[in-house]
Amino acid sequence: MRTQVVIVGSGPSGLLLGQLLANAGIDNIILDRVDRDYILGRIRAGVLEVGAVDLLDRAGCGERMHEEGLVHDGFELSFLGRRQRIDLKGLTGTSVMVYGQTELTRDLMDHRAATGGRTIYNAANVTPHDFDGASPHVTYEQDGDTHRIDCDYIAGCDGFHGVCRASVEDKGLRTYEKVYPFGWLGLLADVPPVHHELVYANHARGFALCSQRSHTRSRYYVQVPLTDKVEAWSDDAFWDEIRRRLPQDLAEAMVTGPSIEKSIAPLRSFVAEPLRFGRLFLVGDAGHIVPPTGAKGLNLAASDVHYLFEGLREYYADRKAAGLDAYSARALSRIWKAERFSWSMTMLLHRFPDDGDFGSRVQEAELDYLSSSRAAQTAMAENYVGLPY
Ligand code: FAD
Ligand code: DHB
Repeated sequence: MRTQVVIVGSGPSGLLLGQLLANAGIDNIILDRVDRDYILGRIRAGVLEVGAVDLLDRAGCGERMHEEGLVHDGFELSFLGRRQRIDLKGLTGTSVMVYGQTELTRDLMDHRAATGGRTIYNAANVTPHDFDGASPHVTYEQDGDTHRIDCDYIAGCDGFHGVCRASVEDKGLRTYEKVYPFGWLGLLADVPPVHHELVYANHARGFALCSQRSHTRSRYYVQVPLTDKVEAWSDDAFWDEIRRRLPQDLAEAMVTGPSIEKSIAPLRSFVAEPLRFGRLFLVGDAGHIVPPTGAKGLNLAASDVHYLFEGLREYYADRKAAGLDAYSARALSRIWKAERFSWSMTMLLHRFPDDGDFGSRVQEAELDYLSSSRAAQTAMAENYVGLPY
């Protein structure tokens, strides 16, 4: 087989890139090691920046998001029994869109299928080759046969545990990492959200987040030790714990119900540099991870896709490589700012077992300052709605 761009990974970054390329007449094939249903079973992000919304529109896949997604003009911080609203719209003129990653992925998959895009699921042992030279190719195994796809470029959209970053580890890759000493236990349930906006809570028992997917579906999270096992958390235990971490009025208003999904995600900050190795590019979680506190993971994947797509479009339209040459630096400049914001939100809102009372008092001072300073709220809001591409 031959195509112009092989995309490894059928998550949000691979699918978004594939659709933008296809719309620009650039041929591509997506390979994933699992199948469509497995990918759609993963419950992940829920908040989209305006840049991600625009990109989905450009891909021609934004219709259902605009119908079913919820535009949020603000969110709340809860601490010391107090609530502080961050007025995103009033402070920045911009809102965010609450629309689940699962739905966004489904829309992209359906549009790709409807427009004849090629995706090969259950592709085992995907391996990029010869990307240092002018003629790269990718091999994979399926039904006992090995297949080869020749291409011009390879986009590594294969997530944190993918093969693309692993294949450049001995080629001058530098990595930066911070692992946090806790995880998030998440629960999805068909119950109405406790509040019409998201609530991020700093509590002596640990962080809690009230998020949502629709007016009838809620997504809640609590900070848990890394040693906790999801099987040990009954639904009742989860509801009791999150209510303890919320202000009384919210705790009393919370509607509980059986979980549809429950899982624990560890928190990590990670950046790989550079994001280009010859004709191979790292995109999205393949190149970086943020702790979920700032809702930036999916949004960073989208901005990477924007930079890479612009570079590829320019190359195929005008045979100019300037955009591709600039990809790594442009993407990393935005990535590091989102890393900083996600780290700072994580530090502000979680309990750190080793930081003791001093750490808690510093957090309280910062939250108090945020309540009294429009400048501090604006800085938080500006980062939350997303820095410009
Ligand atoms: P992925 O979504 O990881 O997609 C990568 C794809 O590549 C997958 O389909 C995978 O099957 C495929 N793949 C992997 N290896 C190979 C291989 N060797 N060969 C072929 N295919 C391969 N972000 C938030 O903003 N908020 C959240 O609440 C949030 N929660 C998260 C919870 C979890 C458990 C995780 C892991 C992430 C979470 N994120 C969250 C981050 C967000 O979901 C990611 O940033 C986003 O999925 C990145 O998209 P991606 O397409 O780059 O990678
Ligand atoms: C969700 C996850 C986040 O990390 C966040 O900051 C906001 C919302 C969510 O899954 O809905």
